[in-house]
Amino acid sequence: MSAPLSIVLLIASLVHLFLHVYNRYLLCITDSPLKGVIHQAWLTLSVLIPTVLVVVFADWPPLHAALIWSPDSALEKSLFLVMVALMLFLLLRSLAWLFDRFLPEIPRHLIGESVHKPQMPTIPPRLPRGLRRFETTGDLVVIERDLSIPGLAPAFEGITIAQISDVHFSLGHEMENYFDAVRGIVSRLDPDIVVFTGDFVDHRRNIVRSVEYHETFRGRLATFCVLGNHDYWTRADRIQQSLRRTHIRWLGGGERRTLKRGGRRLIFTGTDAPWTENSPDLRRAVRRGTGDAVVLLSHTPDNAPRAARYGASLVLSGHNHGGQV
Ligand SMILES: [Fe+2]
Repeated sequence: MSAPLSIVLLIASLVHLFLHVYNRYLLCITDSPLKGVIHQAWLTLSVLIPTVLVVVFADWPPLHAALIWSPDSALEKSLFLVMVALMLFLLLRSLAWLFDRFLPEIPRHLIGESVHKPQMPTIPPRLPRGLRRFETTGDLVVIERDLSIPGLAPAFEGITIAQISDVHFSLGHEMENYFDAVRGIVSRLDPDIVVFTGDFVDHRRNIVRSVEYHETFRGRLATFCVLGNHDYWTRADRIQQSLRRTHIRWLGGGERRTLKRGGRRLIFTGTDAPWTENSPDLRRAVRRGTGDAVVLLSHTPDNAPRAARYGASLVLSGHNHGGQV
């Protein structure tokens, strides 16, 4: 690889970096099927390739001049600037990573949390013997969070919501014992509201089975859901059709369901954006009057910052399989 080509690659990595920052922070575009691939390519371009090139071409006079901080010609100066910018970016990214790692932000409204790992039945292993200790498919974590919800009327104090997400019914998963255990745990919690935040299925042949399973959950007051990307990649219309025959109310088009107590309202709404062609108007979906609280269900947490700006009191999401509040 020639030295001029290495300059092109360094500049390409900076251009990619600019696009990444512009998309992520200015346009708020964070999700696409190519996201993983793009990030891998970006990491290779901006970290690995420049590092290798600098090592390989360290003796090339213009690069050598840039490396020893004595650029003279225009080429040396450009190389010097490119390298300084890359290093600054990597330094800032590393600091941000450290900051996130060691100073995790506790959401203002989270006032209590308990994490419980119940003993679950064993399910047939899916990984080869040597890799089984990495198998977590049959694990379950029950996280109980006490939240102070802005606008929530005292009449709703202590209301409980059980959120179940990303069950991903797939072909060939024989996990009936596991699913029965999850149902038992949730019904013992006896929640006022049950919400499903999407990704019911991975395959269209599991739609009936998945809906039959989900309809065995029931909140004492109501049961709501939105759909996720995997549901849209199979047959969202069929899932919605099956759901209509159950007590589970789909809210993914911005529908609003209101609970009333003492003249005050607790409103549940949802969005299937960005996967549906008919994304609801988020501002309209989460609007609330004084004394009301609005809970938004959104499969992806990417919708949360915008929903918060529009006044949502609480956003419940799945999608990243760790849960988001
Ligand atoms: Fe998802």
